[in-house]
Formats: sequence, structure tokens, C-alpha cells
Amino acid sequence: MDSSLWVAAGTLLAAAAVLRAQPPAEVERRVESLLTRMTLDEKIGQMSQSTQMKTPISEQIKAEIRAGRWGSFLNAGSPADRAEAQRIAIHETRLGIPLLFGRDVIHGYKTIFPIPLGQAASWDADLIERAARMAAREATAEGIRWTFAPMIDIARDPRWGRVAESLGEDPYLASALAVAMVQGFQGSKGLTDSASLAACAKHFAGYGAAEGGRDYNSAWIPELLLREVYFPPFRAARDAGVATFMTAFEALNGVPATANRFLLHDILRGEWKYDGMVVSDYEGVTEMIRHGFARDAADAAREAATAGIDMEMVSTAYHDHLKDLVESGTVKVSDIDNAVRNILRLKFRLGLFDEPIPAPAQAQPSAESRALAERAAIESAVLLKNEGGLLPLGSSVHTVAVIGPLADSGIDQMGTWSMDGRGSDVETPLAALRALLGADRVLYARGLQNSRDTTQAGFAAAVDAARRADVVLLFLGEEHILSGEARSRAFLDLPGAQEALVEAMAAAGKPMVAVIMAGRPLTFHRVATHAGAVLYAWHPGTMGGPAIAKLLLGQAAPSGRLPITFPRTVGQVPIYYAHLNTGRPPAETELGIPMGSPINPKDYTSRYIDVDFTPEYPFGFGLTYTTFQYSNLRVSAPAMHDGERLTISAEIVNRGTREGTETVQFYIRDMVASVVQPVRKLRGFQRITLKPGETRTVSFALSTADLAFYNQQMRLVTEPGKFQVWIAPDAVHGPMGEFELRHSPSAR
Ligand code: BGC
Repeated sequence: MDSSLWVAAGTLLAAAAVLRAQPPAEVERRVESLLTRMTLDEKIGQMSQSTQMKTPISEQIKAEIRAGRWGSFLNAGSPADRAEAQRIAIHETRLGIPLLFGRDVIHGYKTIFPIPLGQAASWDADLIERAARMAAREATAEGIRWTFAPMIDIARDPRWGRVAESLGEDPYLASALAVAMVQGFQGSKGLTDSASLAACAKHFAGYGAAEGGRDYNSAWIPELLLREVYFPPFRAARDAGVATFMTAFEALNGVPATANRFLLHDILRGEWKYDGMVVSDYEGVTEMIRHGFARDAADAAREAATAGIDMEMVSTAYHDHLKDLVESGTVKVSDIDNAVRNILRLKFRLGLFDEPIPAPAQAQPSAESRALAERAAIESAVLLKNEGGLLPLGSSVHTVAVIGPLADSGIDQMGTWSMDGRGSDVETPLAALRALLGADRVLYARGLQNSRDTTQAGFAAAVDAARRADVVLLFLGEEHILSGEARSRAFLDLPGAQEALVEAMAAAGKPMVAVIMAGRPLTFHRVATHAGAVLYAWHPGTMGGPAIAKLLLGQAAPSGRLPITFPRTVGQVPIYYAHLNTGRPPAETELGIPMGSPINPKDYTSRYIDVDFTPEYPFGFGLTYTTFQYSNLRVSAPAMHDGERLTISAEIVNRGTREGTETVQFYIRDMVASVVQPVRKLRGFQRITLKPGETRTVSFALSTADLAFYNQQMRLVTEPGKFQVWIAPDAVHGPMGEFELRHSPSAR
């Protein structure tokens, strides 16, 4: 088919999708009509999700599908298997209810984008939406219509391995990016579009606050903090129409999230009026037995079903016990019916009942997906240090020494949750530098076999390469298996002998650039002391190599900003910018306390005696190849009244000789409130690109709603008084202004 015919076919399909999209009342009518025809067994079948569909599909699973035993499969089979299973479900079951295939399409499907924490560093909602759209296109082409993403747990603890999957520490930024991801996955044409991938807001809620940063661990979060910090991204995803929610594994305030009525009943269905589907996490239902919350699987099924878990993932407590529980009157039929309604509603909304079973197809990275992944990797990288303008590498650099365990490791570069990405599709920094510079200008020595390697046998070759080169490019960090689920770390240092490798390289006396690929903020103070430049690339995905090479060579400029605070040492964790001031804030004079050398305490302020209390790199921080200056902060009026708006503006000038992109951040502080407010809260951001010497006035509109907070009665209020505002390059700098809010205290 020529390309114009493809376009015409695409337009027709889009039009068909719009036609198929049914008004909500019609969906409800069809749900009710189907529900009345379902047996209790069939209802419980819909509420059950399995991993047991392998390639080839076993006869037993086929028989179970025919019997209506399953509503959904996760991470199941090949495209052909999925098409076959769907055919059986639609044509060989009593009611022809289609299956829903779910999968962890977290940061790309075949084309792997930077890990979500890396994407968050781009602060580029449009780009993130496009990356999610691309992932959806690839996954839906293979018959997957549901992803378990975005993960929008606020994460303030880099020890937690799942920080990699998160959008960082800040509720405002994470909410904006969560919406972008939901829109990208689900698409703009409605769920009925066959390229729409139903999204899943997970893990509701508080999973990121695991004590000690240990995965699955308990979280104790006061309601006020839930509402201010942990709920907002979920609320934003709900408002953006996210199709499903997944509950968290942990016990929140002593009650497993899987059966937490406050979360599911009071907040999600009650306050937020959510009518999508709720799935448990993997065996989350029966794990309530080990939590010490349910006596046995029957008790767990009762707790989950009555709290509002529509679909049980993997464990089989619903299948094994719900029927008895209903027949004995312990669980009401109406609870079952409500769950099934939510599941059927989603299947109708996705058009699964109405569309022909898609022919099995294979998706692959394309030129378009690779270009987008490269752009995402470029925008994700954060330049943390660039002494003397070492980067971009100048024309005086002829030969580079490429050293380190992450320079040429496709699998590691993809990071956690990249099971559908193939190492062979990945372009590594080594390959990209060879392609851009010519192989003869690139000397390569791995130095260490992998990031955990402690043997120093490869050091001599690495030092030799360094001596022969003009500059040393060190590729350090964490292998992909060191972050993600169940990959919590108690140390945040570069693992293995990487620091020793850097020390050995320093002896060669050549300028050094450290490129760090990791799934979390690491602590690498000594490395940053030796290296003239540090580029933090996260796990950058399929196109990380070309992205990094172009950044190093100046064919692109860094624009990433940290979406999470980088501590100096693990002992500072949790450390985040939006903290409270305490009654004894440390003074600026107490900066510069050297790490690990206790000083004689002179005063009694909220600090450490053996390390500076400030972070190594603050939230929002990132350099580029030019510098920006902020000045002339203006507030449009000295005071605002309820319902009014203010405009806050500042001038930003590009002081360097290169074009550059700056993420201009807008913060507020409520100086006195009936619940103490953080020293800063992000309330806006804009990415701007300025030519050398160019000045731009950047404005942010502020409404009284932006000033609201939860009071002691859990009501969203504003209170009169003084506010400070900053337009800033990060969470600790930037010019400050003030205004006053005038009105009598009132609940909003
Ligand atoms: C994870 C979820 C994931 C699910 C399915 C669980 O272990 O916590 O985030 O979606 O597995 O793979």
C-alpha cells in the first residue's frame, strides 16, 4: 500500500473508532443487560486475572477460557496466542465476553524510553505524552490493551528500588507528568480506538513511603500528608480519565492497601467518584494473610471484595472462595455486581465487544520511535557539573578513552521493566561514539565487567587507554538489576570497585567526564571531585548511546532537571525540598561541614554534625552549556483577594554563547498557616529556549486555589497572610517576591 492509502486507512479507522465510541448511557445499558445474564461463576471469572497463559496456550487454559474462568491475563503469551485466546473467549463461551490482556508497558514496549524517573527529569509533559503514545502504539499492535502504568507513587527515598519507576518526589510535577502519561497511553481518540492502551494509576497509595526504603514495607502516613503529597498524582490521573487503578502492596497505617476502605471506599469511590476498574497488585489479596490482616484466603477474599478490589491479580482467593461467601451471605451479591460492572464497563469502553479480533502482528522499533527515544534520552540527562566548560568536548579532543562497565551494555542501559526491549536493538554510547568520531579515535577498556565487579584486573588496560587519550569518558552506575521492584539498597554508592577505578584513572592525569547511568539518585561525591564534568543519564533506554554521545560532543545540549533531591550520603535520607522549616532551622553559616568528620557541636539546630545538612544537588537542579541569569521578579499586585489572580514574572537572560533550554520553576511559600507549610512548593514550570544574549520575561498566573492547603480538619482552605514566591532555576535559588492574601478564613 502506498503511504497516501495508509493515511486514508488510518483516517477511516479513526473515524470508525469515533463511531464505535458509545455514549455512557449506552455502555451502562449494555453492562446491565449482560450482568443480568451472568451466572455467579461467570461473574467471579471476570474478577480473576491470571499469569498462566504461556506459549503455546495449554489445553487446560483453553478449557478454562471456554468456561469463563478468567476475565484477564497479564504478561501472557505471544500476539498469536492472544488472538487465539480472544477468539475462544468471544466465539466459544456462553456470553462471548472478551478477555483483557494487560502487561507492564512501563517506559516503552519494543522501543525503550528512559526510565520514568529519567523521563521526569525532562520536565517535558508533551514529550512524555508522545513517548507513552509510542509505547501504546507498539503494545496495542501486539494485542495488549492495558498497561500497568503510570506508577505515580511519590518517592522521596532513593534506597527504594522502585524510585526508578516513579516520577520523583514532588506532587505537582508528578501530577503534571502523570496526566501526560495517561493521555499518551490512552490516546486522544478515546479508549475505543484500537491503539488506545488503558492506563493504570498505581500503586494506590503510599507505596513509596516504605519504611527504610525496603520494598513492600509498611508505610505510616498521616491523612494530611496523604492528601498533600501522596494523593495528588492519583487525583490528577483520575481527572485525566485513567481507566484503572492498582492498589499497593503495603500496609498503610496498619491496613493493607488491598483492603483499605479509607483509600478505596472513602477516597477513590466516595470523594473522587471514580467509576473505573480497580485491580489488586500481584497476589496482593492473599498476601493479606502474611500481613496478619486476614485469617485465610477466604477471609482475604471477603476483605478485598468488600473493600472494592474488582479484579484479583494472580492469587485465586476470589475463584476459590467468593461463591461460598456469597451463598452464605457473607459477601453481598451487590458487591460482586459492582465489581463486575466496573470490569465490563472497561471492556465496553475499550470497544472489545465490538471490534474484530486484531490479526496477530509483531511490533518493532522504527525510525520514528528511535528518534523519539533519542530525544527523550537527550532531554532526560542532567548535567550536574561542568568545570571550566569541559563539556561539550572541543575540537582539541582527538582521541577519547571510553571506560567503564556501562559503556557498552545494552541490557543495563534499558533499566528496570524492559522485558519487551531487546538488547540487540539498543545503541550503546561506545557504538555511538565510534559512529560519530570514527572507531580509530575511540579507545575502549571496560575496566570492570559489570557495575558490581570488585576485581581490579581490568584497571591497567583502562589506565593505559586513558594515557593515550585526550579525555576520559567514564560510564559508571548501576546495572539494570540493581533498581526496580524488590531492588532496595542500603548503600547509595556506586557499587563494586567503580570508585577505585575512577581513582586509578585520575592518576593518568587526563580530564575526566563521568556519565552515570542508574535507576536512582546515587552518592558519588568522590567521583564528582575527580571528574571535571558529571552527566546523569539514568537508564536512558534504547537510544541512550546516541543521545549521550551527541550531548558529550555538543550536537545537543543538556536540559534535564532533577525530579528528586540527590543526597550527599544515604544518612540524610529522606531528604526533599518541600520540607518544613522546624523551630530550629540551621543557619547558612553551618554549610560546608565535611562529610564524615564530626565537628564539635556549637549550637542546637536541625542539622548533622558530620555532614552538611543540604543535599548534594537540589530538586530542580541541572546545568547546560550556557548560563541563565534570573532578575526583575515582579508580582502584579502587593495583595490579592479571594478569587483573584496574580501574575508573577521574571526576566531570564541567556548569558552564554550557545542557545540553551532552561526549565523555569515557580515556587510559593505560605509564611504562617494553621498547618505549617513547606519552605517551598512547586506551583508551575515552563521550558524555554533562548538564543545567546536573548532575554525572555516568563510569567506565571497564580490563583487563590494554588494557595490552598489541608487544614487540621482535612478541609482544603486558604488563609490570609504573607506569601513568598520565587521564579527559580531550582528549589533553592532564584529571586524572591512577596504578596499578601486578604480575606477572612473560610473553608473552600
Ligand atoms: C508490581 C506491579 C506490576 C505487577 C504485574 C507487581 O509485582 O508491583 O507494579 O504491575 O507486578 O507485573
